[in-house]
Amino acid sequence: MYSSVKVLWLKERDAKLHGKTVIVTGSNTGIGKMTALDLSRRGARVILACRSKPRAEAALADIKRESGSNEVVFMQLDLGSLKSVRSFAENILKTEPRFDLLINNAGIYMPGTTEDGLGVMFWCQPHRSLPVDQPAVRPSEGVCKLCNVLFTHELAKRLQGTNVTCYTLHPGAINSELFRDVSKVFMILMKPFLMFFFKDTVAGSQTTLHCALQEGLEPFSGRYFSNCTVRNLYANAREGTVAKKLWENTVAGCQTNLHCALQEGLEPLSGRYFSNCTVRNFYPKAREGTVAKKLLYE
Ligand SMILES: NC(=O)c1ccc[n+]([C@@H]2O[C@H](COP(=O)([O-])OP(=O)(O)OC[C@H]3O[C@@H](n4cnc5c(N)ncnc54)[C@H](OP(=O)(O)O)[C@@H]3O)[C@@H](O)[C@H]2O)c1
Repeated sequence: MYSSVKVLWLKERDAKLHGKTVIVTGSNTGIGKMTALDLSRRGARVILACRSKPRAEAALADIKRESGSNEVVFMQLDLGSLKSVRSFAENILKTEPRFDLLINNAGIYMPGTTEDGLGVMFWCQPHRSLPVDQPAVRPSEGVCKLCNVLFTHELAKRLQGTNVTCYTLHPGAINSELFRDVSKVFMILMKPFLMFFFKDTVAGSQTTLHCALQEGLEPFSGRYFSNCTVRNLYANAREGTVAKKLWENTVAGCQTNLHCALQEGLEPLSGRYFSNCTVRNFYPKAREGTVAKKLLYE
């Protein structure tokens, strides 16, 4: 497995990216940092889209030093906040005359919800994928990975006729900081496996680089890659109707969040429940003031 990664690595060694602009999310550490380093060595202008300024600035210094490139910049992006995503997009449109590659690398391995009330694991890793049948995957994570595959499938369909292509991938089992939020006991038990069976982050970046650099991949837009190879998926991950529905629900959910965040004149509706960009009425028990007070303060 490792040797086939190495062969593809050598094949793409000479690809150059001078004059191209690349965005890598979550590039202050792990696979994202290695991807950003490789792309800046190839001459690309690399935008490190990270949530933490101090962590991003430390990575920026490392990447500049190791690549010898000055075309590396940091732009703040917290994928856990739609407000931040919006202002990042505005910033890019204002400051960058072009952009050629978007690598949605950022990801997190912890439960919980974002400030917009969306599932952290679902929302913070848009185009990455683990195989849906991977035994180690928890049910919620399996669903979230399946969503990534379906989402990319639908995105590719919607991009047909443009010059834009998209891919989803599994980087392999990689020894990175991904498990920093799991319990200490779990980490102690995992350590030997991480050291002996997981690959390093350089190897972990190879499938991403393959999808970003390999010429002739356009016919595979929307497909799932692992170990630098396009893979076939089980029927439920190729289901067109489900992919379309997921796309529509995601866009609708996003629009309701944006509606609540940006629409003027919503103040009188503070505390109310919205769906489909509309305020909704509830059964009496969901409006019960005493129950709400009890829940909040006792
Ligand atoms: N490692 C594996 O075995 C493995 C397996 C399958 C898939 N993957 C996927 O590969 C990708 C890279 O993982 P990795 O192993 O390199 O993990 P990592 O070392 O933990 O790096 C994850 C990166 O994502 C960033 N991030 C997390 N939440 C973010 C948010 N809300 N906004 C912006 N950035 C955020 C992190 O920033 P902070 O430093 O600020 O937290 C970090 O830079 C992830 O999508 C992961 O799910 C990894």
